[in-house]
Amino acid sequence: MTVNRLRPRRSCLAVPGSNPRFLEKAQGLPADQVFLDLEDACAPLVKESARHNIVDALNNGDWGGKTRVVRVNDWTTHWTYRDVITVVEGAGQNLDCIMLPKVQDAQQVIALDLLLTQIEKTVGLEVGKIGIEAQIENAKGLINVDAIAQASPRLETIIFGPADFMASINMKSLVVGEQPPGYGADAYHYILMRILMAARANDLQAIDGPYLQIRNQEGYREVARRSAALGFDGKWVLHPDQVSAANEIYSPAQEDYDHAELILDAYDWCTSEAGGAKGSAMLGDEMIDEASRKMALVIAGKGRAAGM
Ligand code: GLV
Ligand code: MG
Repeated sequence: MTVNRLRPRRSCLAVPGSNPRFLEKAQGLPADQVFLDLEDACAPLVKESARHNIVDALNNGDWGGKTRVVRVNDWTTHWTYRDVITVVEGAGQNLDCIMLPKVQDAQQVIALDLLLTQIEKTVGLEVGKIGIEAQIENAKGLINVDAIAQASPRLETIIFGPADFMASINMKSLVVGEQPPGYGADAYHYILMRILMAARANDLQAIDGPYLQIRNQEGYREVARRSAALGFDGKWVLHPDQVSAANEIYSPAQEDYDHAELILDAYDWCTSEAGGAKGSAMLGDEMIDEASRKMALVIAGKGRAAGM
């Protein structure tokens, strides 16, 4: 099992599989992850050709160190099995994860896991090579998110899909990720926390979905800051302009990173024999102990992954 749940995913770039020009351009952008889309960014008439564009782009493109993901269609369509078979048979060696949209229950993840195992065995890939990313995009998916997050060792992330989710619960707003007028509080808090808890309880990453007003940079940043503050690991980007914002917002601030490293050094020292084998110590005016070390490790871990 080579699944890597710690891949950086601050910025997850959506690339329509139907557009060879975008598939080419995406390779040069500094996103942590790309996902080549066969689902909602591809019209039904071009889904078949998009599969082949994607196989070609994965095998012949230069994706640098990016995490390479393909989003297939959901299990309620008739496209899913051929999406998975074509892409994994054709380019499994050059693919990290399959993203499964509109996941409603654990069985849908298990079905994908079983199909992947058969393909991996058939084409001679290591069993478990291909990870799974599960999108939560409707009420049923959210209600079942705990079981979904435990459904397969292949799972790496749980992703919030705000556009489909807003539609599925009849939220009275057309601006994805922004607050519906009239509520007066954060309409996303419960959903984001629910997803985050399920993800963290199973050592998975939690990823925020798209923001569609691509010209509104400040709007993107505001929505991103909300999930980053809670602990989400990254967010989708639909446009090159959003990549640097996501990379910045889902990395720790430099001063927090520096402070976290100081806490780790101070804690190491105070617990060592030379430092008196103490359980807590003072760092300036701040008392630090084992819990401080854990908090500092989170920030330092994200900072180190971001190359700070
Ligand atoms: C993403 O797929 C969304 O529906 O927001
Ligand atoms: Mg969606």
